[in-house]
Amino acid sequence: MKRKGIILAGGAGTRLYPLTEVACKQLLPVYDKPMIYYPLSTLMLGGIQDVLIISTPKDTPMFEKLLGDGSRLGMNIEYAVQPEPKGIAQAFLIGETFLDGDGCTLILGDNIFYGKLDFFRRALEFEDGACIFGYPVRDPERFGVVEFEEETGRVLSLEEKPAKPKSHFAVPGLYVYDDKIIEYTKAVKPSPRGELEITDVNLEYFKHDELRCEPLGRGIAWLDSGTPASLLEASSYIATIEHQQSYKVACIEEIAFNRGFIDQAGFEKVIADTISPDYRDYLTMVLKEHTG
Ligand code: DAU
Repeated sequence: MKRKGIILAGGAGTRLYPLTEVACKQLLPVYDKPMIYYPLSTLMLGGIQDVLIISTPKDTPMFEKLLGDGSRLGMNIEYAVQPEPKGIAQAFLIGETFLDGDGCTLILGDNIFYGKLDFFRRALEFEDGACIFGYPVRDPERFGVVEFEEETGRVLSLEEKPAKPKSHFAVPGLYVYDDKIIEYTKAVKPSPRGELEITDVNLEYFKHDELRCEPLGRGIAWLDSGTPASLLEASSYIATIEHQQSYKVACIEEIAFNRGFIDQAGFEKVIADTISPDYRDYLTMVLKEHTG
C-alpha cells in the first residue's frame, strides 16, 4: 500500500516560552539543523517521498521557505495550515485531499528518532491496519501508554496520559495507518478538552482488532525536544554522535541521494547550490564515498 507522510508541526510551544514567543518550535536548532529535519529524515528513511507539512497560519510560510516543493530532494512536499491546535488527529482531516485515499504515516514535528529504523520499515510493510510503537520510559504518565504482547505485537490496552499506567511503554509520535485512516478519524468525537485525540483514533483501530504495536529496542533513541532541558539534551546527543562519527545525522540531501530519490546529477546540483562551504564539503565527501 502506498503511504504518504504527514508532519504535524503546529502548536504554541508553550513549554519552550520565551524561545517560542516569536520563533517556531519545530524550526529551532537541534545542534546544527532545524528540528523538522529530523522527523523529515525519518519519513525519508522509510522511503516516503510525498510529505504534507501542517503548521500554524503564522509558521507554515517559514517551512515552505525552508523546504520548498521538495523537488531538489526528489520529493513532493506540500503545506497546509491548522488554524487552531484542535488535536493531533485533526492532521488527517486537514490532509484528506493530500492523502487522496492512500495510507499514511504521521510524525510529530518535535519527535527525533536515532538508530536503526528497521522497526519503522517493518511497520510500513504491513498492508492493513495501524501500527504504533512502544518505547520504555521512566515517566509513562506523561504520554500515551500501550500495553502489548512483545512477541506478537497484539495490543492489550491503550490510554492517553493515564494516572496509573498499565505498562512503562510510551507511544512515540510516529504512527503508521492504512487507507481507513480518514473513515476512523471521522468516527472520533472531540475529547473533553476539545481536541481530536490521536489515542482515540488508535483506539478505533483497536476496536476493529486492527492495531499492532512494535517495541523499540535499546538500539533506538527517541528524543523529546519540547522543554529547554530536553532541547539542550537532544542537541548534545546529536553533537556527540556527529563528532564521534564522520557522518551527519538527518542530512536530508544525503538521505535523498542514498535512498535514490535523486540521481548523481541531481546530487551534484544540490552540492553546487549549497552556500555553506562546510556543508558543501560534507556533501562532496558523501558523493566521493559513493562513487569510490
Ligand atoms: O510525543 C508523543 C506523545 O505525543 C504521545 O505519547 C501522546 O499520546 C500524544 O497525545 C502526544 O502527547 P503530547 O502531550 O506531547 O501532545 P502535545 O499536545 O504536546 O502535541 C504534540 C506536538 O504536536 C506538539 O509539538 C504540538 C503539535 N500539535 C499538537 C496539537 C494538539 C499540533 O501541531 N497541533 C495540535 O492540535
